[in-house]
Amino acid sequence: MTSFEALRALFPLCSRRAYFFAGAQAPLATPVRHAMEAVMEVWEQDAWRIEEREWRHLDDAGETIANLFGCDASEVVIAENTSHAMSIATGLVVARWWQRGSPPANVVVHANAHPASSYTWLNLVRVGAPLEIRWAERVSDVRSGGFAGLVDDATLAVVLSHVDHALGARLAIPAVPETTAVLLDAAQSAGALDLTAEVRLCDFVGFPAYKWLFGPPGVAFLIARRSWLDEIGPLFAGWASAEDTMRMELRSLTVAAGARGFRLGMPNFVGVAGAAAGLRITANAGIQAIAGRIESLTERFYAGVDALGLASPTPRAFPQRAGIVVLDLPDPLELQRTLLDGDIDVGVELGRLRIDLHAFNTEAEVDLLLDRLDRLCNRR
Ligand SMILES: Cc1ncc(COP(=O)(O)O)c(C=O)c1O
Repeated sequence: MTSFEALRALFPLCSRRAYFFAGAQAPLATPVRHAMEAVMEVWEQDAWRIEEREWRHLDDAGETIANLFGCDASEVVIAENTSHAMSIATGLVVARWWQRGSPPANVVVHANAHPASSYTWLNLVRVGAPLEIRWAERVSDVRSGGFAGLVDDATLAVVLSHVDHALGARLAIPAVPETTAVLLDAAQSAGALDLTAEVRLCDFVGFPAYKWLFGPPGVAFLIARRSWLDEIGPLFAGWASAEDTMRMELRSLTVAAGARGFRLGMPNFVGVAGAAAGLRITANAGIQAIAGRIESLTERFYAGVDALGLASPTPRAFPQRAGIVVLDLPDPLELQRTLLDGDIDVGVELGRLRIDLHAFNTEAEVDLLLDRLDRLCNRR
């Protein structure tokens, strides 16, 4: 068995269907199910002792992320979803701005951003923050990313998706002044690509467990550069934010160092245990091996798409995309339904067919999908 056959064997759904929508929700892997069931077993058998025994999954997840993406485990803040992770990052940027007396400021949001990262800024304006939002439009030159001329000394932050959900295009991290924070939504790249370089270049990288990292919904992570955690720390605090959670000293608070200070109260132990197990699957397979596999499967798919003469706005070259390929085809919802009748599960996003290829997919599945697309689109 090759290592990718072994990876595929972890996902029961793969024996029933060609699954091409990991960027929406990863299929459930057996080790993820077992990790979640193990926490439920403790809950069933020992009730309150769940709290005594299961915090370790938060540390475990942080360690695996640190090893995968080259940060320190103390920089990995646990969150509920990408939107939450990006909101925590927004809070830190705004807190630093307040501390500096709130001078006139702007935030540059890339038009490729998902609402998970743009709404947090729009919401600040809604509640009265005197911030100018500037929009960086999509441009064909992905290296400049459309930021040119928009970022100045008053720019608090630039906000972008690493790989966007609509086109599958990958952006390079823009060079910005030192006083500007870079907030990267890596929901469609974390687990599909090695993010070591991006983590080094960005102040904040947020991503969920439940897409390319094989985890359950309801758990996400924010990698925050340590200086933000040391200089600002959490904007919101709960009992679990304290350095000594046993002291329960109502009238004074010493916040725990690093990412631990961002823990509020009882976490989702079941979900975090599943997320940690999903991360271990990625670590065991190797993130570079996974990225290489995604590259070769998507290239095979793209070659077929070109041979069939189907239109796709996703960039061709792998450095400008990741595992998402979208197709411009008439009536994508009908196509999606017909493909599912033949046990092929693809997505539809913003009026286009979206095919997410992960390392558990096979060449045979890619060829089957191409064959069906040929029959459905070219020969009807
Ligand atoms: C780029 C991007 N960011 C964020 C999300 C989801 O955000 P959340 O984890 O808050 O549900 C998606 C979901 O499709 C996405 O494509």
